[in-house]
Amino acid sequence: MSEKRAIPEIEAPDDQVFDYTLRPRTLLEFVGQQEIKDNLGILMGAARHRKEPIEHVLLYGNPGLGKTTLAHIIAHEMGSAIRTTSGPTIERVGDLAAILTNLTPNDALFIDEIHRLSKSVEEVLYSAMEEYALDLVVGKGPAARTLRLDLPRFTLIGATTRMSLLSSPLRDRFGATYHLTFYTQEDIERILNRSAKLLQVKADAEALTEISKRARHTPRIANRLLRRVRDFAQVKSKAAITRDVALEALGYLNVDPHGLDEIDRRLLSTIIEKFAGGPVGLNALAAATAEEEATIEEIYEPYLMQLGLLDRTPRGRVATTRAYEHLGIKKLGTIL
Ligand SMILES: Nc1ncnc2c1ncn2[C@@H]1O[C@H](COP(=O)(O)OP(=O)(O)OP(=O)(O)O)[C@@H](O)[C@H]1O
Ligand SMILES: [Mg+2]
Repeated sequence: MSEKRAIPEIEAPDDQVFDYTLRPRTLLEFVGQQEIKDNLGILMGAARHRKEPIEHVLLYGNPGLGKTTLAHIIAHEMGSAIRTTSGPTIERVGDLAAILTNLTPNDALFIDEIHRLSKSVEEVLYSAMEEYALDLVVGKGPAARTLRLDLPRFTLIGATTRMSLLSSPLRDRFGATYHLTFYTQEDIERILNRSAKLLQVKADAEALTEISKRARHTPRIANRLLRRVRDFAQVKSKAAITRDVALEALGYLNVDPHGLDEIDRRLLSTIIEKFAGGPVGLNALAAATAEEEATIEEIYEPYLMQLGLLDRTPRGRVATTRAYEHLGIKKLGTIL
């Protein structure tokens, strides 16, 4: 990822501080995703009534849509302490055992990127989730025996961007699964309003509207663009972010009116120019653009498909007629 990019594919280190300040703390502050909020509200209300931890929750959706935020909100609203870890960090069964045996009753355990757990770790997690017990093999060879440790009642909150990579036994052990979807532009505007207030940034409503249009329906990108626009205004000694200042900044950041950045445009133009519009396989596209396959698949394609600029077909990726129009490239073979 180049440093200049306005649209982050992953959380950059400076984003973390920024994300943390802007992260909603309660369900009420969490904008949009109404169905999920309603459903979670009932789930948590009922569990509180029974004075029990809530069932295990699985959150999935594209990066920056609020999975981590929601995990913290759930813990906060349940009055639970939250322990945070991630799939790739838990390398061995022993790592997981250490985490689980250190839990206290009612804790929430957040495992980010849960699709990246190794098979052996995942298997140990099954009994922990289902029976609140840990089955460990102690010793080797004929002397080996299993040891069962009881665990406190806890709530596992898993997050993933790749639901399809999760094994079904793991998926089935979650009591509730929530799919976070892209936000409406109105919701993004609401988020920007809130962020501008928290950051004490003076911005006109029209300026926030322009930013919201280019935020790829994603809160993290909206906040990131707001920050970049604020920096731009500061450097140019503008007292407030007006619509004109916002447009100038966004132009400078190379974000087009649909929120596409250079890499999005390069992906589309590569399909069109090098592969005659497709279909082209993901690996060939990755090689031709020098981007990683997973990044293309997880970060870029969902939004390009949402905009109707790209199709995924069994034979590969295809640029749609709309993509040609968007890039101002004439489609060969079309009769105009
Ligand atoms: N519904 C929301 N309302 C307000 N702000 C939000 C909302 N969802 C996300 N945000 C903002 O966007 C930032 C990114 O969200 P978060 O880190 O929860 O995304 P994520 O889904 O965990 O992403 P990743 O897959 O990269 O881990 C948060 O810090 C928060 O400021
Ligand atoms: Mg996250």
